[in-house]
Amino acid sequence: MCGIVAYVGYREAAPLILKGLKRLEYRGYDSAGVALLDAENAGQTGLRVYKKKGKVADLENELAGKELNANIGIGHTRWATHGAPNDVNAHPHESHDRKLAIIHNGIIENYAAIKQNLLRKGHVFRSETDSEVLIQFIEDIRKETGSSLEEAVRQALQEVVGAYAIVVISEDDPTQLIAARKGSPLVIGVGENEYFFASDATPIIEYTKDVVYLNDLEIAVVRAGELKVITLDNTQTTPYIQKVELELEAIEKGGFEHFMLKEIFEQPRSIADSMRGRVRADEGHLQLGGLRDYLDQLAASKRIIIVGCGTSWHAGLVAEYIFEELARIPVEVEYASEFRYRNPIIAERDIVIAISQSGETADTLAAIELAKSKGATIFGVCNVVGSSIARATHAGAYTHAGPEIGVASTKAFTAQVTVLTLIALEAAHKKGTISDAVFRQLLAEMEQIPLLVDKVLQNAEKVKEIAYIFTYARNFIYLGRGLNFPVALEGALKLKEISYIHAEGYPAAEMKHGPIALIDEDMPVVVIATKDSSYEKVVSNIQEVKARKGRVIAVVTEGDTQIREMVDFVIEIPPIHDMLMPLISVIPLQLLSYYIAVMRGRNVDQPRNLAKSVTVE
Ligand code: F6R
Repeated sequence: MCGIVAYVGYREAAPLILKGLKRLEYRGYDSAGVALLDAENAGQTGLRVYKKKGKVADLENELAGKELNANIGIGHTRWATHGAPNDVNAHPHESHDRKLAIIHNGIIENYAAIKQNLLRKGHVFRSETDSEVLIQFIEDIRKETGSSLEEAVRQALQEVVGAYAIVVISEDDPTQLIAARKGSPLVIGVGENEYFFASDATPIIEYTKDVVYLNDLEIAVVRAGELKVITLDNTQTTPYIQKVELELEAIEKGGFEHFMLKEIFEQPRSIADSMRGRVRADEGHLQLGGLRDYLDQLAASKRIIIVGCGTSWHAGLVAEYIFEELARIPVEVEYASEFRYRNPIIAERDIVIAISQSGETADTLAAIELAKSKGATIFGVCNVVGSSIARATHAGAYTHAGPEIGVASTKAFTAQVTVLTLIALEAAHKKGTISDAVFRQLLAEMEQIPLLVDKVLQNAEKVKEIAYIFTYARNFIYLGRGLNFPVALEGALKLKEISYIHAEGYPAAEMKHGPIALIDEDMPVVVIATKDSSYEKVVSNIQEVKARKGRVIAVVTEGDTQIREMVDFVIEIPPIHDMLMPLISVIPLQLLSYYIAVMRGRNVDQPRNLAKSVTVE
């Protein structure tokens, strides 16, 4: 939700900020803007604020021919919460006297009360945003108390309820940027005589690998080339500078037309990376370093509660089957957004596993805090290293899928399922609920997954042909049983998100309890019908669809002739142990949704209304 970038140093700030904003567009692309300050001529030119509805490219067009000279500036790409996506509501927002400007990611929940107060004092607002309220509030405190900007920011934030990552720039001091965070991410890049601020490290890494992840309730002040960090209660802390392990090519398209396609095709590598250093099947070795000290607790747990949202929730559903089957631990999978507002019963020896690609999802973070307050032990399965969720959990295992930039999640899902399977296998092995032979066999099959995924990807052209035939379908149903049921849900979600076709995922046997009424010759039905323990049942479900003239696309195990004769199209995938099938069967569904969306001319990497990192509830 919203991306922020800021720079102070010796480089040209405008191109650097615009490039950074493009890298952060996955976080929102309703509008974009910059505020620039020319240190030499700050007195005459003041803050120059340019903003535009639409994408960063629209802002760039707007900037053509404008005076952009500046060595300090702030920039923002927005996912609208308060106020429609238009030029006025775009960030940066200025103080009433236009001497200050702010970029903000998050939500100020008590903005209405603060605004009322300011209105009574005669403030006038240009936009409908909570962020403008915050900058005018800072301005008001500064004027009333005569305090420094740093102090005014600190005092304002003490009054604020909600989440924020902010950067404030002031016309009065062209060497100064003030940033703060609570609940929304903020990384500071530390260069030589220059500093960078951004929502994640991607806008920073080509300039410096030295970063500070600002903690919640901390304020960072850069002034005259020095960085100082204080807490909201005004205690100075020592910033911890660490090296960021992210290479530039990981965040570029590498010859693919879209990030999503690149990420789909990266899966043989990303799944291998999720297992790297953790699995050695030939030695019967499995170790997840981040959970080492919690293994006994995991094996002794009476129940696991998995929380997540969207695709991560689907990975949790897959894990439910695997944990219950292998480790014989009861599992409940909860939408984090529901869990956080219930009064969930958490018993001693329950373990909560929070799954999140971004590690920043507000609902998941709140679910963790709630579970923690009830004494639960929390494991995290996150992709983004150092993210808020990773830091809020007691222990965890990173997915190591590399940056996922396409808004629709693909490689993060398979990496999550891989890591969750490893956790389940460790628990099962420790508990003795699977034999050593089964443990080794499953590890060996897991090591084969990258190769098998690669094989499925070689079939991409076939999936493309099917996508062409169904490009203009108006609805889709996805069916699967057992572990392939969450895969059906995931396939339907992918299609909805990027092609805007209405799609429903169902357990295949549930179809007859309602959705079957939808089936006619215009209804494409994707059935995941691999050779597993429910194969015969799924065959019957396909017959039910065909009897009503539905058009069936079946994902089948290589060599299957029975289903081939019954259905309209088949996509073959290689055989694998039932427990590992989702890692393979989801791949053609990702491709199908990708190709349909491309053929419909959709913006695949940045679908409308969505953002990659949902830091608002
Ligand atoms: C789907 C998708 C979303 C996310 C969800 C959770 O393609 O991207 O449904 O899965 O917003 O995000 P994370 O995993 O970052 O917590």
